[in-house]
Amino acid sequence: MRTVELVERKRDGGRLTSDEIAFLIAGYTKGEIPDYQMAAFCMAVVWRGMDMRETADLTAAMVATGERLDLRRFGRVVDKHSTGGVGDKTTLVVAPLVAACGLPVAKMSGRGLGFSGGTLDKLESIAGYRVDLSTAEFLAQLERIGIVLTGQTADLAPADGKIYALRDTTGTVPSIPLIASSIMSKKIAAGANAVVLDVKVGSGAFMKTLAEARSLARTMVAIGKAHRLAVRCELTDMEQPLGRAVGNSLEVAEAIATLRGDGPPDLLLLARLAGAEMLVLGGKARDRAAALRRIDRALADGSGLAKLHELVVAQGGDPRMVDEPSRLPRAPHVETLKATRTAYVKRIAADEVGLASVRLGAGRETKGQAIDHRTGIVLHAKVGDRVERGAPFAEVHHSGRPADAEAIEQVRAAFAWSAGKVGPRRLVLGRIS
Ligand code: URA
Repeated sequence: MRTVELVERKRDGGRLTSDEIAFLIAGYTKGEIPDYQMAAFCMAVVWRGMDMRETADLTAAMVATGERLDLRRFGRVVDKHSTGGVGDKTTLVVAPLVAACGLPVAKMSGRGLGFSGGTLDKLESIAGYRVDLSTAEFLAQLERIGIVLTGQTADLAPADGKIYALRDTTGTVPSIPLIASSIMSKKIAAGANAVVLDVKVGSGAFMKTLAEARSLARTMVAIGKAHRLAVRCELTDMEQPLGRAVGNSLEVAEAIATLRGDGPPDLLLLARLAGAEMLVLGGKARDRAAALRRIDRALADGSGLAKLHELVVAQGGDPRMVDEPSRLPRAPHVETLKATRTAYVKRIAADEVGLASVRLGAGRETKGQAIDHRTGIVLHAKVGDRVERGAPFAEVHHSGRPADAEAIEQVRAAFAWSAGKVGPRRLVLGRIS
């Protein structure tokens, strides 16, 4: 087979066979197909798409590049994943809460992708925290404390790790077959029985419309069915950032505050809903109401926060940063943006806020680039809030480089204002399973 012919066929809108897809994915993973050909192939998929059979084959080919974990001895294991958004630190709240309720959480997370942040980058704000556990360490930790939050081990769906990094910097993220296969290959390889997926919709998500988000959700449910993995999708709003913090250590601090009972209402609601869904799927609660009561107990009695502490210790992180989040890395400069007139926040362009955070160094513009965990944005107002003239509506945490001025202006411009009242946005837009 000649790689260029497969790229050309997809470019011209043709379909690839299972063997051709397996050849491309295995060849790229082994280093026999170069980055530029795989990038061209991904771009062709962005434009031409794949049908359900090709998408399922792509997922299976990615799973086949590595091992598949057998987690049966842990009982039912439920995973959680978000399709990516701005300010989405839900995993840092949900995973410890669910583990504190007795359901094992074994999660392999990703790095930031385009303007959306990644759980691994956030966790690395905690000094010493290791995201490169081996499979043996992963299993031993799950056995010992019932929670693991790490990167994809080199043995599990290694094709996804490589393709994900390539897509991040080649403009090839927003594609239903690429996103669905990326997420589902990790979930299948990681051995979960069920997965709760948060499919984000809006300017700060890869799916801009509810119709696209539904289609992505249905694709993932179908892939799950083919691999005997129960999939529940929640479609949630990403027209404005989630919570108030955007940027790695700022988001970790917000997740800790949420586990302490002092989090922003939208983040708290999503974390409670996802956590409850996981407990029901994992057989730890008979219905959503009972599951929500258990999650609320883990919030109120501090057991969720204690689980995060245990997790950080187990993975080599400095637990003092959980006890005192003021110890997390902090940017040397904070620019406070103030309202020039009294008005209601009509819109906060989540994509612009996400791009501004990348410009500040919180995300990557080139593959493998080091990031600055200290930088980011804190929103003092969300859509529907009234801000008095002279009051702060956002803070930009930056390192003081001349180029940061552009990011500051980008955050200012991301806000649209209204003289009249504006209602709050609806957070949960639908469910598919
Ligand atoms: N999350 C993933 O794991 N992969 C994608 O492609 C997008 C979001």
